[in-house]
Amino acid sequence: MDKTTLILHVDSPDAPEIKTVAEILKNGGTAAIPTETVYGLAANALSAEAAAKIFVAKGRPADNPLIVHISHISQLGDIVSEIPETAVKLAESFWPGPLTIILPKQPHIPEIVTAGLDTVAVRMPSHPIAHALIEQAGIPLAAPSANRSGRPSPTSWRHCVEDLDGRVDAILCADDSDIGVESTVITLATPVPKVLRPGGITVEQLRSVLGEVEVDSAVLNELAPDAVAASPGMKYKHYAPKASVIIVDADTNAYIDFVNSKADEGAFALCFEEDVPHINIPCVVCGTAEDESTYAHALFTALRELDEKGAVTAYARKPSSDGVGLAVYNRLLRAAAFNIIKP
Ligand code: TXA
Ligand code: MG
Repeated sequence: MDKTTLILHVDSPDAPEIKTVAEILKNGGTAAIPTETVYGLAANALSAEAAAKIFVAKGRPADNPLIVHISHISQLGDIVSEIPETAVKLAESFWPGPLTIILPKQPHIPEIVTAGLDTVAVRMPSHPIAHALIEQAGIPLAAPSANRSGRPSPTSWRHCVEDLDGRVDAILCADDSDIGVESTVITLATPVPKVLRPGGITVEQLRSVLGEVEVDSAVLNELAPDAVAASPGMKYKHYAPKASVIIVDADTNAYIDFVNSKADEGAFALCFEEDVPHINIPCVVCGTAEDESTYAHALFTALRELDEKGAVTAYARKPSSDGVGLAVYNRLLRAAAFNIIKP
């Protein structure tokens, strides 16, 4: 693919460049856009032809469905065929924000968007530029994360340029994504609501609104080779830098001793800020142990940085699995192909 990609920088929802990108999307084009979770690769969700371009630009397997992004609750009824009370409660509590809700789809949502499933994933982002863009385009936007398939999700416009320059019509560049991991995906198409992918809204928050919420076993466990994934995205090797990542399940002192014993092997430490003064191998910092949201914010940039520095092996601190830590752990497990050691 070799398109001319328009690279536009914006710092406010009033910027005229947003209109330019809205026109591109209305006319069936593709654009990378900022959201509060990660950057997305958007196209008209109501056009099979436009949505098909997303799969080509990303190199995404056709059996992995897309999330449809809206800017107003009034758009929901045109996309899903049922709006249960649970969906109303979730939307009131967490939209706009990092929550994706799966419900039975309306027949006119193109099959390519839902990868042939009879359900559709919907999210209302809170990022002011994403919101303005959806408003101005006047159509719901299908958008997966704006990385090439298999690469870490993009949390900066620079990552979008690395992965998609020449492959999309435009890249709308704004600040780094605030949250840093993708939205929580919850399905309401099961008897009990079930989290298929942890993200910016925590399981604890969902339970406080809905009561009973299950967590799909694929969140923290490797799928058996013959298993059918509830969320097709879970079955792919994801978020993987070229370096082989190994998760180290240890307290601070044991982690530091362990990585220091690897000094001869050219390994990197994917560690917390406060660990750095005690470590004598190269470090890539991933937030602080004090606050799991800092690990989420830094994770995908850190995974890309390992590649830039030519890391062959990286030993990562195991995140806590509370709050947004569960999302970090879920992504890290996939980046590490479930490789965990306890020194
Ligand atoms: O934060 C986010 O969700 C970002 C931003 C751009 O909004 N988007 C994102 O999209 O992460 P993507 O395509 O990278 O991840 C969507 C996930 C995939 O794991 C996919 O399999 C799942 O949602 N999904 C989408 N529709 C589904 C459906 N109908 N049933 C089950 N899983 C679905
Ligand atoms: Mg993705």
